[in-house]
Amino acid sequence: MTKTIKIIQPDDWHVHLREGEMLKQVTKCTSRVNKRCIAMPNTNIPITTSKLALEYKKIIKENSFNKNFDPLIPCYLTENLKLEDFRLGLEKNIFIGGKLYPTNATTNSEFGVHNIKSIYPVLEIIENKKKVLLVHGEKIRNNIDIFDREKYFIDEDLVKIRHDFPNLKIVLEHVSSSYGVDFVNSNNNIAGTITPHHMMLTKKDVFSNNTINPHHFCMPVVKTENDLISIRNAACNNNSKFFLGTDSAPHHVDQKHPNLSTKAGIFSASISIELYAQIFEEEGCLDKFEKFSSINGPKFYNLPINNNHIILSKEDWEVPNYLEKDEIKIKNFFGGKKLSWKLNEVNYS
Ligand code: DOR
Ligand code: ZN
Repeated sequence: MTKTIKIIQPDDWHVHLREGEMLKQVTKCTSRVNKRCIAMPNTNIPITTSKLALEYKKIIKENSFNKNFDPLIPCYLTENLKLEDFRLGLEKNIFIGGKLYPTNATTNSEFGVHNIKSIYPVLEIIENKKKVLLVHGEKIRNNIDIFDREKYFIDEDLVKIRHDFPNLKIVLEHVSSSYGVDFVNSNNNIAGTITPHHMMLTKKDVFSNNTINPHHFCMPVVKTENDLISIRNAACNNNSKFFLGTDSAPHHVDQKHPNLSTKAGIFSASISIELYAQIFEEEGCLDKFEKFSSINGPKFYNLPINNNHIILSKEDWEVPNYLEKDEIKIKNFFGGKKLSWKLNEVNYS
């Protein structure tokens, strides 16, 4: 008989669903398996107001695989945010929290935050409303090496935020280093999302022979074997502080180049739960999978745990190279490679 695993339906606590035609295709993938997602607000027109957030939610829902899919939106924080609109947006649950993008850290982050002190009134509101600050934790400065950005952000900014707002709930998104894992583990009111690619790739998979593999290039960039092991341990050992967030970030293949002018982002939404299952199996921790995929996230966000279940079956299959429809062509992470788990049943009630 085929081996199967049954887990509570997961949520993706960090995903990019984009806009237009691309949104239609990638939203199908994310809503096929997840009950909820946090759809990141770094769209071409960033989601900085509650009006934009409501419109974005509506479009996502209209394009979902199942009608019960629930997209949650954080507000894109800027230095001149309309505070009253933000406060009301949090109160009415239009926003799940605020997303801090340091200026020029990643895709569409040019309207992000340069000086953290300038958003202290915003952080105070998030703390008082018991919502969540989601952080792209990278410090961008000419003399900071791309591999050290997370560490510098923690040392120069996150330590201060933690100190000045001790009750503020923070998610360090896409933790990419053992330094980041240690910081989350040793501080209160902070959790971390973990992507499949930060548990599967190291810098050798991105940079070799003076060229880069644009399909493995993301922000924060994947790092050393030691970092990968530390992130795997954080995910796979029943640690409540870490949960599923794919950071699936699609770009059209035309935007992917074998040099640093390429767009950063790895598209994994089409195979996300299967990738995580494979990692947990490799670590001999399938019994701890559900806690990471379906329990730790809602607990941190103070939301109910999903009622439904999904079933994955043990079955080898080859991931298609591309998600392709009309003018959309996106490279699938793991395209052309074999996965050993397949989603086979979801009850969408
Ligand atoms: O690689 C990334 N791509 N990292 C991010 O933080 C953003 C994302 C995107 O939106 O393309
Ligand atoms: Zn992201």
